[in-house]
This record gives sequence, structure tokens and C-alpha cells, in this order.
Amino acid sequence: MTVESVKPAHPGAPEPPAPPLAGGGVPVLGHGWRLARDPLGLFARLREHGEVVRLRLGPKTVYALTSPALTGAMALSPDFKIDGPLWESLEGLLGKEGVATANGPRHRRQRRTIQPAFRLDIIPEYGPVMEEEARALAERMGSGRPVDCTAESFRVAVRIAARCLLRGEYMDERAERLSIALATVFRGMYRRMVIPAGPLYRLPLPANRKFDRALADLHVLVDEIVAERRASGQKPDDLLTALLEAKNENGEPIGEQEIHDQVVAILTPGSETVASTIMWLLQVLVEHPEHADRVAAEVKSVAGDRPVAFDDVRKLSHTNNVVVEAMRLRPAVWILTRRAVTETELGGYRIPAGADIVYSPYAIQRDPRSYDRHLDFDPDRWLPERAKDVPKYAMSPFSVGNRKCPSDHFSMAQLSLITATVASRWRLEKASESNDATRVGITLRPHRLLLRTLPR
Ligand code: HEM
Repeated sequence: MTVESVKPAHPGAPEPPAPPLAGGGVPVLGHGWRLARDPLGLFARLREHGEVVRLRLGPKTVYALTSPALTGAMALSPDFKIDGPLWESLEGLLGKEGVATANGPRHRRQRRTIQPAFRLDIIPEYGPVMEEEARALAERMGSGRPVDCTAESFRVAVRIAARCLLRGEYMDERAERLSIALATVFRGMYRRMVIPAGPLYRLPLPANRKFDRALADLHVLVDEIVAERRASGQKPDDLLTALLEAKNENGEPIGEQEIHDQVVAILTPGSETVASTIMWLLQVLVEHPEHADRVAAEVKSVAGDRPVAFDDVRKLSHTNNVVVEAMRLRPAVWILTRRAVTETELGGYRIPAGADIVYSPYAIQRDPRSYDRHLDFDPDRWLPERAKDVPKYAMSPFSVGNRKCPSDHFSMAQLSLITATVASRWRLEKASESNDATRVGITLRPHRLLLRTLPR
């Protein structure tokens, strides 16, 4: 599948057909009730109806893609932009002026501003902070009390993003506030996306008030971070300085709102996605002790008796494969959407201008057409001799194309280091009060994972 394959074959060719309507819809709500009740099951079953299928969400038609090739073709095509229900609901959180929701020239300019902070050759500069935070996490896990993995995963993710990219000494209290705010906001955003009942969300109900408070706190937090930097008078060579000094297309300083939205657009995905993935990794270490033992043995073979270091990470091939396999089966970003900017074609079907397209990396990465024993947790499937059989785009947890996550190397480095540090220090087991059922929101994560640690 190439980028060209999203375009009509010949200008005079007959108009391609509309994609088939997925089965299982109900009158009035269409597939909306399934999307609300069992979204992961709905997306997993869509492949039975075709590679492009129509879904009805109330009065709206949404187009779903179920093959890796088509998701890659869409991500690389200029016929689609960031917009649609997911992004409209996210704009309330991420703002309208940040990199994650901008399109066109503004988006290109913003990517140029933030990209240098994520360059592969810069990542080792973040090594000492990542090491320090990973070791501090492992230390806290040994307190003797059950480890609250939600709080701890957010804490380490926020502290690493804030200390590396914003060079701030942001205290645990901020990570705690951000974690609580994001959990509430992301759950509320998801509800608003799948059940678009606008006026209902403005009623002074406890759930709406909680949502509004959480959103306000998130923005206050970001204002504090920006104000503190300005008050310090310092300009370290970091992402925050790049944002504060950025110029717009006319060479003028960008406005306050854009600075604010940019910090939100970096801190928010930088903490929720990484924190959710750390929770899954901790769960994987409990559920697959044989792989936890292999990680510990690998660390021992590379680092001996000293604590594992950032520079060791590239030698920890099994640990890296554990991380990738956890991200395959439990991707934090499980749903993505685009909007067609022009009438176009995907997989031989007509996509009208303005159509909303959706796909689920969760369903794509668990597709038996792409993976043998697709539901097995098998990190060795990422050994080079086996990984070459995985179809293109069947494993793209950071997406591809111009919206690809800028933080793929930054994220992988910290996730592998954290996994190696924790697994080499502790054996993990589930606490009796733990609830590790999958919690579906804008990201996927366990509901409330509580673990006990036993020394290795
Ligand atoms: C975009 C995944 C960590 C910042 C994205 C996208 C994905 C993704 C799939 C593309 C969305 C789309 O195509 O519509 C992840 C995963 C992460 C992670 C799985 C960790 C496990 C981070 C971190 C940061 C970050 C740590 C920043 C500190 C961003 C930003 C964008 C983005 C700013 C928007 C890029 C754009 O639209 O140009 N991420 N991400 N992400 N991510 Fe990440």
C-alpha cells in the first residue's frame, strides 16, 4: 500500500462504492451504544466486515479502517488532517493552539520548535534524570505498603517529562495534581466523545463539577510552570525556553495562549501515555514472572552488581522486547481519528470530504492476520529474525507520518530503563485489593493496580 493508493485510480474512472455498513448497529444510536459499552470488542470485530467499514454513531457516519496498510496510507496522505470527534473533545483539554491539534503551516512551525528537544542524539543528555527517577521509583516501591501503581506511574512520568523537557524541579505534589486532573479530564472527554449530549454536560451535576475543577486545575498547573520559569529569569537550553522564544510565521513572538497550549500539549500526552504504559509494564511483570526473571538476568549480565544505567539500555534487547510486546497488546493510545479534507479513496472505497475516519491501534496490533498466536504475550516475536514477518504499520504505537509522536525515542528509553530498574530490584505480586481490569478512556490502562514487592 502506498500513499498513491488513497487517490482515485483515473480521473474518468467510475466512482468507487461506499464502504459496507458494519453489522451490529441498533436503531437511533447505531453503533454508539456498542462504542460506549465495549469499544475494544467493537473494533476487534470490525475486521470481519471489511478493511473499510461505515459505523453509525447516532445521526453521524464514521468510517473505520481495519487493516495496517490502510492506516499507514491514511497517516501518510495529505488528504487527511487532525480533526473529528476525538480532537474536538480534546481541544477542551489541549487547547486550540498547541501542536497536537494544529494543522497546516502552524503545525509545521510548531513541530520545528519542539523537535530538537526529542532528537535521538539529545536523548543521552536526559540519561542522568531518567536513571535518578527510575531508581527513586524502585526505592519507593520498597516502602512495605502496597504500591499504588497509578500514582507511582504518573509521578515518574511527570517528573521525567518535567525535569528533562521543562528543566523544572516539579515536586510530587504537582505530579499528584496532574495525575488526578488528567484521570478525571480524560474520562470526561471520552464520555463527551462517545455520548455527545452537549447541554447535559453543562448542568451543575457532581460529575460535571468534578470535571470542570480538574480541567481548571490542569491549566493552573501549566500557568504555574510558565510563571515560575519567567520569574527565575533563566533561559536553560530546553524545550520550555524554545517555546517561550518561538516566533510565528511573521517572525513575531507567539502569544501567551499558544505558549500555554503548547506546554499542555506536551505535558499531557507526555504523562498520560507514559504513565499508562508503565502501569501495563508493571502488570506484565506480575503476569509473566518468567519474563521478569529474564529481564533481571539480562540486567545482571550487562550491569553486573551495579545499578542499571541509561547507557546499558541499548544492550538490553529482551527488556526492550518486553516493552514493545506490552505496547502491542496494551497500547496506551488505542484509538485515533482523522478528517478527510477532500473527497478521496481508501482501499477502493469512496471517502467523502469532511468524513471522520477512525481506527484502533489496539485492534490492529491484535489482528490474527498480522500476528501468529496474536493474543499471546511473546516478547521474542520482536527478535530480528521474527520481527521481519510483521506487516508494515501493524505495530505503530507512535503512529507514522507528519503527526508521528515526536517522543518515540525519549519514551522508549525511559520505559526500558524503568522496566529494567524495577525488575532487577523486585519480584512483583498483585495485592488482594488490586483491580487490574482494563479501563477504557482516551487512553487504556488498568483500573487500579496495586502491587506488593519482594526483594530479588
Ligand atoms: C503524538 C503515542 C509519549 C508528545 C502522538 C501520537 C501517538 C502517540 C500515537 C500520534 C497521534 C496521531 O497520529 O493522531 C505516544 C505513546 C507514548 C507517547 C504510545 C508513550 C508510551 C509522548 C511523550 C510526549 C509526547 C513522552 C512528550 C513529552 C506528543 C505530541 C504529539 C504526540 C506533542 C503530537 C504530535 C503532532 O501532532 O505533531 N503520541 N506518545 N508523547 N505525542 Fe506522543
